[in-house]
Amino acid sequence: MIDIKEKTAETIAAIRGRTALEPEIGLILGSGLGALGDQIGKTDGSADPRDSAGPCVIPYGELPHFPKSTAPGHRGNLVIGRVPRAGGKVVFCMQGRFHYYEGYSMGEIVYPVRVMAALGIKTLILTNAAGGLDPSFTPGDLMLITDHINFTGNNPLIGPNAEDFGPRFPDMSKVYTPDLAETARRTAAALAIPLREGVYVGYSGPSFETPAEIRVFQLFGASAVGMSTVAEAIAARHCGMKILALSCITNLAAGLLDKPITAEEVTETAGRAGERFTRLMTEILKNI
Ligand code: HPA
Repeated sequence: MIDIKEKTAETIAAIRGRTALEPEIGLILGSGLGALGDQIGKTDGSADPRDSAGPCVIPYGELPHFPKSTAPGHRGNLVIGRVPRAGGKVVFCMQGRFHYYEGYSMGEIVYPVRVMAALGIKTLILTNAAGGLDPSFTPGDLMLITDHINFTGNNPLIGPNAEDFGPRFPDMSKVYTPDLAETARRTAAALAIPLREGVYVGYSGPSFETPAEIRVFQLFGASAVGMSTVAEAIAARHCGMKILALSCITNLAAGLLDKPITAEEVTETAGRAGERFTRLMTEILKNI
């Protein structure tokens, strides 16, 4: 069996065969939030992929060792390119991610993060759609994640430690980098985009939570719940990456309103918040 270092080297060789760009920031886009990828130069495939001005779009299926994306609202492309409106910063953008509920192992879910780390990317931005636990939240609100609770029942670092990536027992006291959080706050204020903040609970899904579970998460002091992000954040922290994470609150969590939660509502609300989200994220990219 080949180890993670060799696997990532093979994936990186495939990426380098398609683009000469050197990405500096990793970006993982959550449900319905993939439109930000369209800010990355042209993504219609017309540009020469080796032209450093054009974006390089690689479907996950064409990358060795990459899982395929099956979740609704996820496009399943790696886009590497410059974001002209963010001062030309080069991003490694995942239009869609891998979730535990899809049946992937934790190792598969965090594989792209390890590819980013092996490529020399030092900053990771994570985004997701989430249910709001704070009754003052409104669907469409954006929330800065200040910390998380890993309620998935698993951890991507279980098993032999990937020594080339980080230590056996990584510190998690500041997963979400305070100076990146401050940049996000300042940027949102300058754009007059309200930015909530709080703790995110990572839940396995795919069933939404019960109202009793939501009451427990509220007692935990959490503000949002979702089915992603925590595993990637743990793996990125293990690799010593700086992390910024933002949630789009797509619905109020189970039991807060007397109505069922649907995947359609989640994707639709994220899509509607997409313009504001993209504007904020582009400006944050420029400022970091
Ligand atoms: N729960 C879990 N994940 C979610 C939710 C939710 O209410 N909304 C969007 N993703």
